[in-house]
Amino acid sequence: MATKHTAVLNADLTTGTINRNIYGHFAEHLGRCIYEGLWVGDNPEIQNTGGIRNDVLEALRNLNIPVLRWPGGCFADEYHWKDGVGPVESRKRMVNTHWGCVVEDNSFGTHEYMHLVELLGCEPYVNGNVGSGTVQEMSEWVEYMTFEGESPMANWRRENGREKPWKLKYFGVGNESWGCGGNMRPEYYADLYRQFQTYVRNYGDNKIYRIACGANVDDYRWTEVLMERAGNHMDGLSLHYYTYPGLWEDEKKPALQFDEGIWFETMFKAYFMDELITRHSKVMDKFDPKKRVGIILDEWGTWFGVEPGTNPGFLYQQSTMRDALVAGLHFNIFHNHNDRLHMANIAQTVNVLQAVALTDGPRMLLTPTYHVFEMYKVHQDAQQIQLNYDSPVYEMDGRSINQVSMTASKAADGTINLGICNVHHADAVSISIELRGQTFSSIEGRVLTSNELRDCNTFDNPEVVKPVPFTAFTLVDGVLRLDLPARSVTSLALKA
Ligand code: AHR
Repeated sequence: MATKHTAVLNADLTTGTINRNIYGHFAEHLGRCIYEGLWVGDNPEIQNTGGIRNDVLEALRNLNIPVLRWPGGCFADEYHWKDGVGPVESRKRMVNTHWGCVVEDNSFGTHEYMHLVELLGCEPYVNGNVGSGTVQEMSEWVEYMTFEGESPMANWRRENGREKPWKLKYFGVGNESWGCGGNMRPEYYADLYRQFQTYVRNYGDNKIYRIACGANVDDYRWTEVLMERAGNHMDGLSLHYYTYPGLWEDEKKPALQFDEGIWFETMFKAYFMDELITRHSKVMDKFDPKKRVGIILDEWGTWFGVEPGTNPGFLYQQSTMRDALVAGLHFNIFHNHNDRLHMANIAQTVNVLQAVALTDGPRMLLTPTYHVFEMYKVHQDAQQIQLNYDSPVYEMDGRSINQVSMTASKAADGTINLGICNVHHADAVSISIELRGQTFSSIEGRVLTSNELRDCNTFDNPEVVKPVPFTAFTLVDGVLRLDLPARSVTSLALKA
């Protein structure tokens, strides 16, 4: 049964710029993310550009990815970058202890990563090793990548085929230092952070935005200690939050086998992102009221059980409209935190967790999450527009959330773009939006939904869930009426 609902969009009232970096990505040496997902080396069966597979590259380029975080994740704190440069045949092999104990041959290293970000046209975000690395190792990596003059590391880079330094803006000092990155207490890490970051130098005009390791989910004390003891030495503080039904310590629930209750719980937990950012930001306000230090949400996304028959250490999961709605909800929430949230990176780009693309040898498919990134890319660097609404309530087992979540922004060419999520697993909803402050002569829309709750794209049938034109709207006397299908993400472009 459809519900009525009214909202007001004030097209002439802007509430800040939506940082394009919240549409960032994260690619780790984990499972088939880097190897096969992005890097195929000289495999003649998969078309590639200098080892980067073309199909994934093209798909990612279409998303205007602003930034790509690498090499981890937990892998970052056991990665020794020197093993990944120089002639490939003599690169050291290691065991990837976190992710399946597979052999890492280091064929994808700093040069290959920088080539990838150049092909993508995005910013690099390199995460350094604090857990098992040294100050010298981290310092020399930055020198290797960014020093232009004569120096041992810059000369070595030249020997390895790269004359000019790369531009490197974002650098993370450790990952999950409270857990896989060293099991540290915040007091201890804060001191280590101060020490390590001192030697993360700015060479020439390369100015590094230093990112300290932040909290695990709602560990507000970690944020407090870090801000108090090291806030002046950082530009960003990371935060990790994954959406999964059930408890972290329990076995993860399947990506494709879920019922309505699990669907609801997933949405409920996705909404928690708003509270999380708000509360961390409040703690930060105490030490940084002008909001100079950004929250860098460099790992977010769904975490479900691995696909049957795949390596449990590879975190390969399928994706449905449930994932697409987690993405849409998150983007809507991110837009409301544009004063503090400087970046967000989905975990992970290809073949791992809430990936935007999955590969199977030479085949590739785009997940429902990919389509949300694509539908929402118009919001990158746009001006957020004031949009007030009261959502109908979506209830289950005594818990309730908003059924509808919306966002609006104005692009540089004046187009107003709306993103609307109906998170209900089964109910369509009708809404009306009063458009104030501007009149519109043309409206175009697309909608992403699925016939069945658990539909997904497969290699044999890759276009089961994809956006289609949206025409279920009317515009009469400045009121836009929309009929939104159940479990849908809708994008609208309104032009004067
Ligand atoms: O994204 C998978 C893992 O999740 C990362 O390596 C780690 O940082 C987090 O626990």
